[in-house]
Amino acid sequence: MPPARILVLVTCLWLLLVPVRCCGPGRGPVGRRRYMRKLVPLRYKQFVPNVPEKTLGASGKTEGKIRRDSERFRELVLNYNPDIIFKDEENTMADRVMTERCKDRVNALAISVMNMWPGVRLRVTEGWDEDGHHSHDSLHYEGRALDITTSDRDKNKYGMLARLAVEAGFDWVFYESKAHVHVSVKADNSLAIRSGGCFPGTAMVNLIGGQRKPLSELQLGDKILTTDETGHLTSTEILLFLHKDLDKPATFIVIEAEGHPYSLRLTPNHLIFASRDPLATFLPVYAHRVQVGDFVKIFVNGTQLLPSKVINVSLQEETGVYAPLTAHGTLLVDGILTSCYATIEWHEMAHRSFAPIRLLYNVFPIIPEFIGNDGIHWYCHFLYVLANKVLGWEMP
Ligand SMILES: *[C@@H]1O[C@H](CO)[C@@H](O)[C@H](O)[C@H]1NC(C)=O
Ligand SMILES: *[C@@H]1O[C@H](CO)[C@@H](O)[C@H](O)[C@H]1NC(C)=O
Repeated sequence: MPPARILVLVTCLWLLLVPVRCCGPGRGPVGRRRYMRKLVPLRYKQFVPNVPEKTLGASGKTEGKIRRDSERFRELVLNYNPDIIFKDEENTMADRVMTERCKDRVNALAISVMNMWPGVRLRVTEGWDEDGHHSHDSLHYEGRALDITTSDRDKNKYGMLARLAVEAGFDWVFYESKAHVHVSVKADNSLAIRSGGCFPGTAMVNLIGGQRKPLSELQLGDKILTTDETGHLTSTEILLFLHKDLDKPATFIVIEAEGHPYSLRLTPNHLIFASRDPLATFLPVYAHRVQVGDFVKIFVNGTQLLPSKVINVSLQEETGVYAPLTAHGTLLVDGILTSCYATIEWHEMAHRSFAPIRLLYNVFPIIPEFIGNDGIHWYCHFLYVLANKVLGWEMP
């Protein structure tokens, strides 16, 4: 192969090495395996997986302390599971404060504890820490770590408790002390990778010439409105559907903006251009991050895009999910500027990882739209497999 071609190949491969997951249903946590394998208790001081806690293969890096007055505190949830005993030493309910993922995992563990030892319950002795009792980069400060025991405080059970925690899907489990087991999870935003993003079929895009069309009727090659890098309105072509599944139910975030007649619905992990400050640059952020008072870009009077204040954010269930990919990587949906991408907050990176397919479509514009039985475009699977199998990236 001539060097130039090798260079192109290498460049393409490099461009592809971004783990973009489309609106896939995800593979679910640990799963079936557990019923086929004998449960072996962890040894004292053993941790699973056998890598440091804050690495990619385990719970991942710290994202910084969350205090009660932090912006990110709103992303944490309270766990009121009656099957779990919370020690609540601090008397502030802090032990009940955790991330969504941590809550999912600990609730799953509570069930396996009751199944394993009838009459015994799971006990959380330490959860979110707002008092600085742990080492400076502890995941306890982010609601991502728990210290657990059983309700009977029988130390002979803790090795098995740790094993059950591994099976319940905690990302890192450490039989840390004779008195407790330490468990932790990945940050919720890193998990966005698993759920992807879409719009409902009834969402409208703006065609060139002023008409609007629902996503469910959009055809490949249709030209719709978006903006270029400088923020000017331009037309962009629908290249393919990253995801299209008429029967898939989904929960959409509904965003309403001041003075805008349409509300935008998109899945929580889809990217939308938003900003806290109407004069600042609008960056792609997850829809679930958008709050009342933030600004989004709305299409006004058929001529321009202007910042508009978000006045309501709510949730809505709907059936049918659509994720069109445009040549620009952005599009106006229900008159609000959004990204074509989900799953990674770095829109630029995602756009680049799709460069090869944009190129392919430019050269062979008649490549058939090929969507698998699961409604996900082959290219998404391709990127996923590449990231997962070839590179060994830890993918959910
Ligand atoms: C939109 O058009 C209406 C009527 O033509 C006008 O009153 C309004 O100021 C326009 N809005 C913007 C933001 O230009
Ligand atoms: C926000 O939207 C929801 C759902 O439509 C509605 O129930 C609620 O009253 C709205 N809140 C405000 C402040 O408009």
